[in-house]
Amino acid sequence: MRIARRIDEISPSATIGMKVKADELRAQGSDVLSFAVGEPDFPTPQNVIEAAKRAMDEGHTKYTAAAGTTELRQAICDATKRDIGVEYEPSQVLASNGAKHSLMNLAMTLVHPGDEVIVFSPYWVTYPDQISVCGGRPVAIETRGEDDFQPDLDEVRAAITPWTVAMMINSPCNPSGAVYEPEVVEGLAEIAVEHDLVIISDEIYKHIIFDGTRAVSPASLGDEVKERTVIVDGVAKSYAMTGWRVGWILGPESIVKAASKLQGQMTSCPNTIAQQATIEALSGPQDSVEEMRQQFEERRDYVVDRLSAMPGVTVARPRGAFYAFPNVSAHYGRELAGRTIGGSLDMAEYLLEEALISLVPGAAFGADDYVRISFAASMEQLEEGLDRWERALQ
Ligand SMILES: Cc1ncc(COP(=O)(O)O)c(C=O)c1O
Repeated sequence: MRIARRIDEISPSATIGMKVKADELRAQGSDVLSFAVGEPDFPTPQNVIEAAKRAMDEGHTKYTAAAGTTELRQAICDATKRDIGVEYEPSQVLASNGAKHSLMNLAMTLVHPGDEVIVFSPYWVTYPDQISVCGGRPVAIETRGEDDFQPDLDEVRAAITPWTVAMMINSPCNPSGAVYEPEVVEGLAEIAVEHDLVIISDEIYKHIIFDGTRAVSPASLGDEVKERTVIVDGVAKSYAMTGWRVGWILGPESIVKAASKLQGQMTSCPNTIAQQATIEALSGPQDSVEEMRQQFEERRDYVVDRLSAMPGVTVARPRGAFYAFPNVSAHYGRELAGRTIGGSLDMAEYLLEEALISLVPGAAFGADDYVRISFAASMEQLEEGLDRWERALQ
């Protein structure tokens, strides 16, 4: 059977192999602790669950407008104004089946074959593949742990070509936990204006932020920048709603309209019950968001202390999201349990098989010197997991 060539542009997920192995070990009775997941370990807040039940009882069970109900889009505008102080109209919002779907809509709407899109490594695994499948070329600019994973503006300028159409920013960042300094966001915005680039700003972790840090949205930097910025956001991370599948974009009406047309022929509206639940998440009490944030911050402190004390491990202090991204490359070249550790895949495999902890190799994010640990796990699991990790490196 012939498979369309565009599918060859998608790389198989580097994390799936690890997951299969972790599942095999578990099936054999091993007590594998997983720190590989990208979702909060907290339940969805009860007020959201009640809103979904109510939605079904009240008959919100049919198609809505492809972009989501006006009520949902208004709730998204209101929450965005409350949270980052930027104003949008419902006509500038497209709600989709998760932020990943929003990002794919954007790639299909903005990227022509041959276009280049700047991404910063370590990047969220999905960005390069979504760009490539549209025939575009992801151009990765490296950021480094020793610089707190802040992009270097000169490197960005040097990477721009006549084919560059957009840059993707993800602050707070998955996997590094970096929050871009205000002057870095301003510098990136300046470059985007100068070279007529669209800024895709993935702000899905914006509520999960530590040390009183402020994540600056490029959309808040005045009209000239706002007009070329598309915010990507969703309820998955901040409201522990990964399975509800609601994400959205906010941006210039021309882009939103084009992406809505695409979505209208691809998936129609996001799940209607989940749309109603999202209105409650965004407009109802916000206490649970803060409670989860505080717990993530406590765990972040613990994980960073433990990692920093491990020989041959250095870690930049994550200021947002729920991941730490330690550099473990000092161990590369070592012989451990009869195998040579050549890179992050070997390291993750070794730690899985010998220490029974599951992490994501940095290679999946374009940064082979590192591995990612998610601290969306209980304190007890983190303590045990980090004990095992430390013993395995000795
Ligand atoms: C940086 C980033 N953007 C977007 C998403 C997608 O979120 P959603 O579950 O809403 O599709 C994720 C999920 O892991 C993410 O880490």
